[in-house]
Amino acid sequence: MTPRLKIIAGNWKMYTTPTEGDKLADELITALAGIDPGNKRIVVMPPFLHIRSIAERFNGVKHASVGAQNCHFENEGAYTGEISAAMIKDAGAEYVIVGHSERRQYFHEDNALLYKKVSAALAHGLTPIYCCGETLVQRENGSYFEVISKQINEGLFDLMPDMINNVIVAYEPVWAIGTGKTASPEQAQEIHAFIRNLFAGQYGHEIADHVLILYGGSVKPNNAAELFGMKDIDGGLVGGASLNAADFAAIVHAA
Ligand code: 13P
Repeated sequence: MTPRLKIIAGNWKMYTTPTEGDKLADELITALAGIDPGNKRIVVMPPFLHIRSIAERFNGVKHASVGAQNCHFENEGAYTGEISAAMIKDAGAEYVIVGHSERRQYFHEDNALLYKKVSAALAHGLTPIYCCGETLVQRENGSYFEVISKQINEGLFDLMPDMINNVIVAYEPVWAIGTGKTASPEQAQEIHAFIRNLFAGQYGHEIADHVLILYGGSVKPNNAAELFGMKDIDGGLVGGASLNAADFAAIVHAA
C-alpha cells in the first residue's frame, strides 16, 4: 500500500479580520518556507471573507491550499447570508469543513443536513473534511462508539465508492476542543481504527486503507508528534494553535 498523505489543516474559526488574516497568512508562508513538505499537505481555513485574498497569497506555495469552514448545500438561491460550495471553489479554496461540532451544537446541523453539504462540496470539486466526535457526557457514559458510528453512517455512507474516495474524516472529541485537554494518542488511535473499520465494513479494505482520518482537539506543538505517530492518524485539524504562525509551523514540522 502507498503510504497515506499527512494533512495539517488550520481551522481559524471566527478569528481574524481580513487585514489580520492576510498578515497571518504572510507570516505562515514565511514560517513554512523552511519545511520540507515531503508527503504533507497544509490547508489553511480562514473565514469566508478572507479566502480569495489568502488563496492568492498561497498560490505559489507548493503543498498548501485554502479551505472554508462550512458551506450551504444548494448551488445558489434565496438563502440570505449563506455561501455555496460553488462560491467557495471559485474563490480559490479546495477544501471545506463539514459538520464541525460547533456547527452541530450552535446551528443544530444534523447528519442528514451534513450529508447534503458533503454531497454539494463533492459536486463542486471541493474536498470535504467531515467532522465527528463525542461530547464529554457521551465519553463518560460509554456511548461514544455508537455516536461516532451514527455520525459517519448517516453523514457519509450513502455516498458512492467513487465519491467517498474524496472525503477526509476528522475525529474531534468535543471535550478536547479548545479545552487544552487532548485525547491521549491511544484514545485517539482507538477511535481512528474504529472509523477505518466502519469504512472497511461499508466500502471494503481498499477504500478504508486510503481514507485520511485527521485528529482535532487541542493539538499543540508539544503533543503533535506523538499523535501523528499513531498508525491510523493521518494528520490534524488544528484550532487555536493555527492562529500562531510559529506554532502551526511547528505542528507541520512534527507531522
Ligand atoms: P483547538 O485546537 O483549539 O482545540 O480546536 C480544535 C478544532 O475545533 C479544530 O477544528
